[in-house]
Amino acid sequence: MLLLSALLTFILHASKVRGLDNGLAITPQMGWNTYNHFGCDISETSILNTAKAMVANNLTKLGYEYVLIDDCWQAPARDPNTGAPVANSDKFPRGIKALADDVHALGMKVGQLHVTISFGWLTSRGDPSQKFGIYSNAGKLTCGSRFGSLGHEEIDAKTYAEWGVDYLKYDNCYNEGQAGTPKLSFDRFAAMSYALNATGRPILYSVCNWGEDGPWNFAPTIANSWRISGDIMDNFGRFDERCPCTSALDCKLPGFNCAMARIIDFAAPLGQKARQGAWNDLDMLEIGNGGMTYDEYVSHFTFWSILKSPLILGNDITNMSPETLEIITNKAIIDINQDPAASPATRRWKRSVPGGDLSLWSGSLVNYRFIFALLNTSPKSQTVDIDFTDVFVDQGTVYQHQPYALSDLWQKDASGNWGKPLGTFQGSLSKVVIGSHQTKIWMAVPAP
Ligand SMILES: *[C@@H]1O[C@H](CO)[C@@H](O)[C@H](O)[C@H]1NC(C)=O
Ligand SMILES: *[C@@H]1O[C@H](CO)[C@@H](O)[C@H](O)[C@H]1NC(C)=O
Repeated sequence: MLLLSALLTFILHASKVRGLDNGLAITPQMGWNTYNHFGCDISETSILNTAKAMVANNLTKLGYEYVLIDDCWQAPARDPNTGAPVANSDKFPRGIKALADDVHALGMKVGQLHVTISFGWLTSRGDPSQKFGIYSNAGKLTCGSRFGSLGHEEIDAKTYAEWGVDYLKYDNCYNEGQAGTPKLSFDRFAAMSYALNATGRPILYSVCNWGEDGPWNFAPTIANSWRISGDIMDNFGRFDERCPCTSALDCKLPGFNCAMARIIDFAAPLGQKARQGAWNDLDMLEIGNGGMTYDEYVSHFTFWSILKSPLILGNDITNMSPETLEIITNKAIIDINQDPAASPATRRWKRSVPGGDLSLWSGSLVNYRFIFALLNTSPKSQTVDIDFTDVFVDQGTVYQHQPYALSDLWQKDASGNWGKPLGTFQGSLSKVVIGSHQTKIWMAVPAP
């Protein structure tokens, strides 16, 4: 077993340069976070109930393994004697460690003792399938004005490790002006990365600095993921002055209230920077929170998946509509997100139509499979011809001209699995009718 493990590790390291070297987020992380639905109104009970509902709804089996507490878990002050972080005793009467233990045990209870070979890590320890995460801030205070971790990185990381924390989301408020150049941001976020590493416990490190100073350039070796924009708003495309930038590149004020489709635009050029262990984070999902239609949430889930963003649910898992559950459990879409090739889709063209635009995206998966997707942000239904010279522009003429078996990944096949076979196509897919704010996505497999 050990030998096999060593061999796998060797093969992987020999074949591909990874991001942060902590063995985590080899594919984008998946889970749930308190913030988008509960905000600061969190407690041990609501978090534990969510963790149970994740198991009951089979979300854990699909890969949603992290249960994450966002801001506002902290007591009014650190321990006056040790300087260690302390949890709010009204919200977490038994402390964070007891909650982390319960979440870990929940994974064990459902009997998901499994052997996981995830590229170099050979685990046969019966790992708990649910993991636990927490939040802090690379500043004096958190965004919700609780104590931050700037200058307290070591004691905080050590305490998190003692509590059994598997994941840290690390925010960017009240940063005392230590931003504005990549070096300033790097130093501030690297301090926590090194402190986490020094604990010896693998802790997934999710940097949330809203794209400031280009984290896709400075963060891949210190973080498993980095936010690329201001906070998401549960809205398809509305412009809000508090999210003023038109591009994530050189954005001087990331802000917040960034509509979902605007974040897709921000992400478009950044796919080239993602790799195993190091991902562009398009922010947590809003599916099920009520601000978008079914078609809009399908667009949201599809793009977060194909751009290889972490998939962190943000809705009330204990109370979901069948539509919400259906969207977040589309296994064909999740499989694209988790594909070992780790290759984000690229936008091939964008065309203006009245009130919005149409765009074509495509990407490749392992085993000579491909996907392409069409997005319509306009208020009207559109009819589009998709030319395979655009879809397979990276693969060249042989691929552009060969026939493909296509399936539609938002329809089900005869046995109820996602991906309805549409037949064989060569050269183009013509007269595709796509509704307002809709996304259509196809899998293409070379046909004989
Ligand atoms: C710490 O960093 C070293 C060197 O990059 C790496 O080999 C090790 O796995 C890391 N440990 C943890 C716990 O992240
Ligand atoms: C979860 O999976 C089990 C077993 O496969 C199945 O019986 C159950 O209906 C599923 N629950 C949901 C909510 O899909």
